[in-house]
Amino acid sequence: MINLLSNVLIVTVFLVLFNEASAIAKTRKIHFLTAKDKPSNNATLEAARNFRFVEKNTKEKSESDSGKENEEFTQDLSLTFQDVEEQAYRICQEFLGPPWANINKSQFKITTITGGNSNAVYRCSLSEDVAVEDPKTPSSVLFRIYGCFQEDKNVVVSEAATFMLLAERGLGPKLYGLFPTGRLEEYIPSRILNSVEDFRSHSTAIAKEMAKIHSLEVPVRKVEDFWHRHMENWLNYVEDKKSLRPKESFECLNMYKEEMAWLTKEIKKINSPVVYCHNDLQGGNILLRQDTPSKDVPGIMLIDFEFGAYNYRGFDLANQLCEWCFEYLTEDFPYFTWEFEKFPSVEEQVEFIRAYLNQHVEEGIIERSAVEPEVDKILEEVRLFSLACHLMWSLWSVQMSFKVNEDYAVLHMEHTKLRTNAYWQFKEKYLNSRAPNGHAETRSLP
Ligand SMILES: *[C@@H]1O[C@H](CO)[C@@H](O)[C@H](O)[C@H]1NC(C)=O
Ligand SMILES: *[C@@H]1O[C@H](CO)[C@@H](O)[C@H](O)[C@H]1NC(C)=O
Repeated sequence: MINLLSNVLIVTVFLVLFNEASAIAKTRKIHFLTAKDKPSNNATLEAARNFRFVEKNTKEKSESDSGKENEEFTQDLSLTFQDVEEQAYRICQEFLGPPWANINKSQFKITTITGGNSNAVYRCSLSEDVAVEDPKTPSSVLFRIYGCFQEDKNVVVSEAATFMLLAERGLGPKLYGLFPTGRLEEYIPSRILNSVEDFRSHSTAIAKEMAKIHSLEVPVRKVEDFWHRHMENWLNYVEDKKSLRPKESFECLNMYKEEMAWLTKEIKKINSPVVYCHNDLQGGNILLRQDTPSKDVPGIMLIDFEFGAYNYRGFDLANQLCEWCFEYLTEDFPYFTWEFEKFPSVEEQVEFIRAYLNQHVEEGIIERSAVEPEVDKILEEVRLFSLACHLMWSLWSVQMSFKVNEDYAVLHMEHTKLRTNAYWQFKEKYLNSRAPNGHAETRSLP
């Protein structure tokens, strides 16, 4: 018994010491949450598992909403399935031409697609007895209604423009209809990626698709302030709202400011090229086709460009590699896991980066001889931008926690804690790699 107890003590002391030693920010712990349990009922639980994908459909719980009504918002939320069906039927008839234009209601099928996206997505199909003569006419489409949380009209416009561009280049699903509240897209039998095994087995294909996106000329603003602008906006937002949660401490907001200032300086030094980036390449935004497309149709498709913007390429590369550590939709609270050890090894990073650069070679953007020196440069960028990613998604969840209901807020704060810890672990690694006698990760040249 005494033995057991002392073992427990030793382990506890060890853990405390370990945590203290590894956290560069001994004094910068976050204390947001009063301890809280799991989401309260099964329905919420089910939804909560999808929190990275569906959070925008949950009811915003903030002062401004409880009193006066936000029209758009209310309108979207009050749509019943029958309303959606009615709307989808009409839109398919108007946008898709014959035979869609001539079918009656009983020849029109609609089903809800679950676990897919941040906005509402349905599949609409013709019943089997309807013949399609024109091979360009789809017999099945995806009907998307934008999330009611996207307040920023700029995002709606630039995301739609990007979607159209990608569709035209064969880099994304085809676009069949565009209207103010949503669109009709090609239905692609596919699944999302959701494990380190998924990322590992498709890493070079993802890198290739990312490179194609990065070489696009996209008609959106080209100021490279993506990271900084979001960080500032979210910080201001939280500053404004924090009085809503008087019991919680927000002393960590200074931590974000300090780290932002430091990172901004480091980012300037590293000189990563500014390109059009996806900026949120988590597994939920990477489709693995389940059909067998022709040889020139890639098996991997990057979707949901809500965060798409010009940004440093290092951010996009690092962000995808950081996602290897995550798994979402797991069994237990908080329904996602993160393991530092799953971060790709240097060899795996090099493979990813090489595939990325080789795509640029293929498109004539760089010379083949530039690939190897550039691999080293990008490895360095990934080390730095991993920090920017963790800090950004950490703060993203803080501000999201004010926009969603209580159950989701708890999940977001779990996500914040995790991302903040990840930030400090990666920062330590980054600083070590640059110390004169540090343990810089090296690679053997081919
Ligand atoms: C919640 O789920 C559990 C197990 O899945 C089930 O036994 C229980 O009856 C459910 N509760 C409600 C309120 O639906
Ligand atoms: C719909 O059209 C089909 C084919 O023209 C017809 O067989 C069916 O009876 C119609 N259903 C209704 C409800 O009108």
